[in-house]
Amino acid sequence: MTGRAIIDIRGLFKAFGDNEVLRGVDLAVRDGETMVVLGPSGCGKSVLLKHIIGLMKPDGGSIVVEGREVTGLDRGELNELRMRFGMVFQGAALFDSMTVGANVGLPLVEHHRTGGSELDRLVEEKLEMVGLAGTAHLWPSELSGGMKKRVALARAIALDPDVILYDEPTTGLDPVMAEQINELIRSTQGKLNATSIVVTHDLHSACFTGDRVALMDEGRIAFEGTTDELTKTENEAVRTFIARGRRPLPGEREADPSCDRYGLF
Ligand SMILES: Nc1ncnc2c1ncn2[C@@H]1O[C@H](COP(=O)(O)OP(=O)(O)OP(=O)(O)O)[C@@H](O)[C@H]1O
Ligand SMILES: [Mg+2]
Repeated sequence: MTGRAIIDIRGLFKAFGDNEVLRGVDLAVRDGETMVVLGPSGCGKSVLLKHIIGLMKPDGGSIVVEGREVTGLDRGELNELRMRFGMVFQGAALFDSMTVGANVGLPLVEHHRTGGSELDRLVEEKLEMVGLAGTAHLWPSELSGGMKKRVALARAIALDPDVILYDEPTTGLDPVMAEQINELIRSTQGKLNATSIVVTHDLHSACFTGDRVALMDEGRIAFEGTTDELTKTENEAVRTFIARGRRPLPGEREADPSCDRYGLF
């Protein structure tokens, strides 16, 4: 990690009608680090990620990626930028009408990187990296939830991205599968030396995968610090978020007792 900001977000605003979702988000992500963005459901985490890869345009503020302002890029420039990003969408978002191999190879085909046996080789290499060697012929409907997330990760790293964005990588998985995905995020980070942003509302996943953590609250970043600082801070938004994790609201899932080991509860 060099300490240089590879992604610098300043004063980001976004509203949908009366719903002011982002109300001045400031966030700097350093080259080579894994930054976790925590926050309750509906606070705007996915919206923030979509702005970073230019899928949404802000009402105000700036997003500078590797020195370039994203909000002003035209379609061709955005396309170029997206080649440097790998995104694991919330819920995996695989194409059901395509095999696992075709899903993983899609970015390579779309960006005319390669074809034929070289494409097959690269697809198999990425599948191996996520522990799914030999599954290229399967269909998404034949996979478990955890396998789908792994295929989504294999697709996200198909172009050897500089930045990997994960949107809720462990949500909906049982604890064993979730742990496997957390491990995979860490090992992928080690192998590709990429910068990562992991969006989650899972504290355990945050502490395991993150170098630093930011908490979104009321449309802004209410706290930013190391995972260690997160556990020690008196920041009210953090304490409230953690307390809610300990006592789930009706309808919310049970808190993860493994957070104990980080002294969070
Ligand atoms: N395309 C859209 N049009 C209108 N409103 C939207 C759109 N996308 C998101 N929103 C609204 O923005 C708010 C934040 O949504 P977002 O999906 O970013 O939440 P989140 O923090 O990712 O939640 P979760 O943890 O449940 O995934 C919500 O109120 C949502 O209804
Ligand atoms: Mg979301």
